[in-house]
Formats: sequence, structure tokens, C-alpha cells
Amino acid sequence: MANRKLILGATAEEAAHWQGLVKDYGSPLLIFDRRVLRQQYEKLERALPGVSLYYAIKALPHSDVLQTLDELEAGFDVASSGELELLLSLKISGRRTIHTHPIKRDKDIRDALRFGSTTFVVDNLEELKKLVPYRNRVGMLLRVSFRSESAVVDLSKKFGCVESDVPELVQEAERLGLHVKGLSFHVGSQCKTPDKHVEAIQRCHALMLQVNEQAKAPLATLDIGGGFPADYLLEGFDIDAFCAPIRAALNALPTDWHLLAEPGRYLVAPAVTSITTVIGKAVRNGNPWYYLDDGVYGSYSGQIYDHTIYPLQVLKQGELTESVLTGPTCDSIDVVDEGIALPALEIGDLIIGHQMGAYTAATKTRFNLLPDARFVSIG
Ligand SMILES: Cc1ncc(COP(=O)(O)O)c(C=O)c1O
Repeated sequence: MANRKLILGATAEEAAHWQGLVKDYGSPLLIFDRRVLRQQYEKLERALPGVSLYYAIKALPHSDVLQTLDELEAGFDVASSGELELLLSLKISGRRTIHTHPIKRDKDIRDALRFGSTTFVVDNLEELKKLVPYRNRVGMLLRVSFRSESAVVDLSKKFGCVESDVPELVQEAERLGLHVKGLSFHVGSQCKTPDKHVEAIQRCHALMLQVNEQAKAPLATLDIGGGFPADYLLEGFDIDAFCAPIRAALNALPTDWHLLAEPGRYLVAPAVTSITTVIGKAVRNGNPWYYLDDGVYGSYSGQIYDHTIYPLQVLKQGELTESVLTGPTCDSIDVVDEGIALPALEIGDLIIGHQMGAYTAATKTRFNLLPDARFVSIG
């Protein structure tokens, strides 16, 4: 498989750590390290001063993650009533949320309002109309589409209005008695460069100034979405350098505008490590096949849905042979890697998956009714 970072071998200390966790909790595991999440949050806060961070719960909707971010006074980007309920169960205030799903049912709106969430993202007239019954209680962000060829996941194909629609939508909202607070965008997930963020900020800046010449209540909020990448090749990614041009673009905006971001992946990806165990082996067409107790229907589901290839580590070293790593289900699509050069493995050996917090456990299935990886929080 192209572009997979593979680490062969481990220090005695690392091996003892992973083996100790399996001894204590079994296998497969997802190990969530709260310290890493705190570090990521603090690094992004420093890289984007003046920008309020709303964690995109969809990336990893786990209570220990939300609690850790709650302690850091983060905001939360919610996209469903289920995500709101999870916050409610943790007694996290709805006032620290924004509802960013552009398409909502009336029930979703009522649930959000009951919970105290009052800022809604919309991208078309039909959605504006849905908010009219609640017009005294809601504020809106209009989502604008900026297509991104360089992002791994383009999120502006399915959602967002075109820029030229914005003035008319703002006028229509005013006519309906609705308050548009500002604009939002999401230039795509796992962006390779900050160029699209910069372009979108500059274009929204110009659009907001244009609209504000006419609008009764000026637009004064800009939500720059997510898209901040994870370091899947373990190259020592520098978030401060990535955000430098974004900071420069934000510095050109009027100082009284309110700035938000909705990071998901960057915050949680490195905070979770997967541990799986070789539970079977075979030789097929001359190549070793290793059957793991977790695969693409489980923690590695992001290889399918999120188009992500995670860094792997085997604890052994030795002569390398082209091998196949498969998941435990009966389906043949359940292959974690094919043609991967590995040392000879034995039943009971561990495979470590790094950077596995974002869009992994979030999209797992229960196919074959195999057990989920156990989620263990440390740090
Ligand atoms: C509306 C919205 N906000 C934020 C995010 C988080 O994006 P990322 O994980 O790339 O930071 C997503 C991802 O799908 C999204 O759809």
C-alpha cells in the first residue's frame, strides 16, 4: 500500500509498555493518552491566537476525550442530537457549542435549542426557513463552499453555498427576521497546505465587507472550520509553521470580528494508539498472511471511509518478506495492508497502529459481531 510509514522494532521500554497494556486489558485496544490531546490543543491554541476552538466531536465522540477538552474550556462543534446528548451526559453546557450540520430536521433544531445551543450553520434558503419559528433564539453562520483539490477529504462538494449566493441569502434572512452572525467554511480534511484556508479567509473577508455595506446587522463572525492535518508519515509536522500564513490572513481582518475554528483530526489523531494481536497465520501464494484481531471493519475503518493509511509498528526486526495483514472478519475487503515487508511474525505478536484517534473508532462497525477494540484512557 502506498505511503505507509512502517517502524520495525521497538525499544525494550516501548515493547514492555504495549505488552503490559495487553496483559492488563486484553486485545484489541485503543489507547487514548490524555496528555497528547492536551498538548495538541495547547499547540493549536498558540498557533491560532484569538481563535476560539470548537472540537469537532464527530472525529472521536468519546466521553473521556470530551471531558479532557472540557477541562481545557474548549468549545464543541456538534452535528447531531446524539453528540449533544453525549455532552449533556457529561454536564457540559450547550452554550459552549455550535451546531454545524447544514441540513437539519426540526427535531434537531428543537433538541439543540433545549440544550442551549443557539448558533446554527446553514447554506441555503430551505434551511433558513426551518429556523424562522425560532428566530428570536438563534444566530446563523452561512457556510460557503471552497473546493479543495489538495485536501484528502473534500468537504465543500456536499455542503456550502457559492460565494455569489451570500448577499442574497443574507437579505433573505433579514426579510425573514433571522440574524446572520457571519460566514463559515470547511476547506477539506487533512489539508496538505494552508493555501485554501488563506484563500477562503481572504474571500470571506471581502464578501463580509461587501455584505456589510447593505446589511442592517453587520456580519462579524468568521468560522474557519477544520482541516488541520495529522502527521501520518511521522515527519515531525509543525502546526505553528502550517498556521503562520493563516495567522497573517486573520490579522488582516477587523479586530472586533469573532473568530472560530472546528478542529477534529489534528487534536485527536496522535492521542490514540491501536494495539492488535496476530491471531492466525497462513501462507498463500508463497506470501505470509497474518490475521489480526482488529481490521477495517473496526479500528482501521478509516482506511476505507477516511482514505487514511496509518503508521504501523511491529515490535520485531529480522529478514523482511512481502506479507499481508488482514482483519478478523470473514470478508476479503478486510485487509489492512498487502505487500508490506515484514519480519516473520508469530501468533501472539503485537501490531501497533499510530495516529489512530480521528475517524477510526468513530466509524467502526460490529460486522460479524466481533468485539470492539477496548478503549483505555491513560495520562
Ligand atoms: C463541519 C465540520 N467541521 C469540522 C470538521 C472537522 O474537520 P477536521 O477533522 O478535518 O479538522 C468536519 C469534518 O468532517 C466537519 O464536517
